[in-house]
Amino acid sequence: MNQTGMKETWGTRLGVILAVTGSAVGLGNFLRFPGLAAKYDGGAFMIPYFIAFLLLGLPIAWTEWAMGRYGGRYGYNSSPGIFRVLWRNRAAPYVGVLAMVVPVMIYMYYVYIEAWCLAYAVRYLFGAMGFENPQQFREFFAKFTGIEEDGAAWAIEGQGVLGSGVFFLVLCFVLNFVLIYRGLSKGIEWFCSWAMPALLVCAVIVLIRVLTLGTPDPQRPELNVLDGLGYMWNPATERLGFLESLRKPEMWMEAAGQIFFSLSVGFGIIITYASYLKSDDDIALSGLTACAGNEFCEVALGGLMIVPAAFVFFGHETLQASESTFALGFVTLPNVFGKLPAGGDLIGFLFFFLLFLAAVTSSLSMLQPAIALLEEGLGLRRRASVAMLGFITAVGSAFVVYFSKDLAALDTIDFWVGTFGIYVLALFQVILFGWILGVDRGFEELDRGAEIRVPRIFKFIIKYVSPAYLLAVFLAWAYQSLFAPPAGKPSRLQAIVENRTVQLSIGMILLVSALFALLIAQSVQRWRATERAAGGDKP
Ligand code: ALA
Repeated sequence: MNQTGMKETWGTRLGVILAVTGSAVGLGNFLRFPGLAAKYDGGAFMIPYFIAFLLLGLPIAWTEWAMGRYGGRYGYNSSPGIFRVLWRNRAAPYVGVLAMVVPVMIYMYYVYIEAWCLAYAVRYLFGAMGFENPQQFREFFAKFTGIEEDGAAWAIEGQGVLGSGVFFLVLCFVLNFVLIYRGLSKGIEWFCSWAMPALLVCAVIVLIRVLTLGTPDPQRPELNVLDGLGYMWNPATERLGFLESLRKPEMWMEAAGQIFFSLSVGFGIIITYASYLKSDDDIALSGLTACAGNEFCEVALGGLMIVPAAFVFFGHETLQASESTFALGFVTLPNVFGKLPAGGDLIGFLFFFLLFLAAVTSSLSMLQPAIALLEEGLGLRRRASVAMLGFITAVGSAFVVYFSKDLAALDTIDFWVGTFGIYVLALFQVILFGWILGVDRGFEELDRGAEIRVPRIFKFIIKYVSPAYLLAVFLAWAYQSLFAPPAGKPSRLQAIVENRTVQLSIGMILLVSALFALLIAQSVQRWRATERAAGGDKP
């Protein structure tokens, strides 16, 4: 039973694994990962990437599963409640502000990109992506997202409804909130249990098409699939030696950031999902399976599709010139589909539809942590909690859509919440597990009902290695972005002083944080009153 007396649990074990894997598998797997791997010579990138997976991603995911199920035993599903159980300190629930702000504010821009994916999929379905040259694709994307001018994304004129990002955003909002309203098992679990297999089927079809592209232009035999795969995966290239590639500190930082983003670790999501488990359900194998599932989708599917496809048509110059992951996904790739000898529209549809499904299973998971707080902390019913969160996120998304010039609002929130916030929350969580709960007690929790024995080396990793590694990466990353930006770019601190949208976005982050601090204060009062009434049984 949770605090409102309503019992919510997962339907099946497979269901919860699919839901957590669904939260993890998202735009990060199919857009962000290939973009990063291409940027850092694939093979070389995989080394910091897998080190970050083993020393940060997997161990911290296990801590979230264990802490979540532990808190669930005390009737809590929200991070503020769970942190309060784990750390008997007045400050504990307030650290939960971060665990609310991270998923809720990532949702505000993530759902907008989800809407682009849906729009592209629908346009392919209706044959409305028949642009002739790269410039036209670029212009469409710029108009559609409003990159050139604030407020431009609101304008429908000249583009029709299929060219309106706001229209698709509304559709995505409705879908997400209807599913959240239906609840954990009937909404999230139900959706993930068909969307994940459907996504895999789409991915396999797209992958087969990409891997059978051969050498489309006989005049340029060097542009073939095998060389595309080589470009993506060979560690040592003529451009830069292997060891030289490994010496780039920013690659280590981006690899760690990618692991967090991709696994949805440090989001405050897994902790809430795991709290709905029964106290002796397995978490060790489930956690490993969800992480492995994510890595399969990321490396084996995401890693083999976009970059080789773009390579065979445009060569590595275009790939390296793609200014951003968005340009790669929403400009270069549609160009590739346009050049396919047959079935380009179908492949385009399948690709963007799979991105859309992956995005929905992730965005849903970003809403559940706040729903849990509103219900168990404030005692709201589902209708009220969904309406309230719907309002907060709608205001936030409207803000992101309006301040679209250079996608500045999206980028600022992604930096301060989607990267900075994740590092801080992950660091707090690993310290909470390793030092406050204690790694021995933590492992007792992890071992209960476990179907595998987590190797004991992870005790040492969680207690010492993960926090030290995380702190080192975080400090290096913060130093570089705040004080030593790449040549020609303003530092993030300079941007705060100079750019009005950046200032407004930070104001928005502070406002949402203050709102959640108030809601948590209110919840703490209610929890205390309940505990006093129950005879001082403070957890
Ligand atoms: N983990 C989600 C993704 O990769 C957020 O997109």
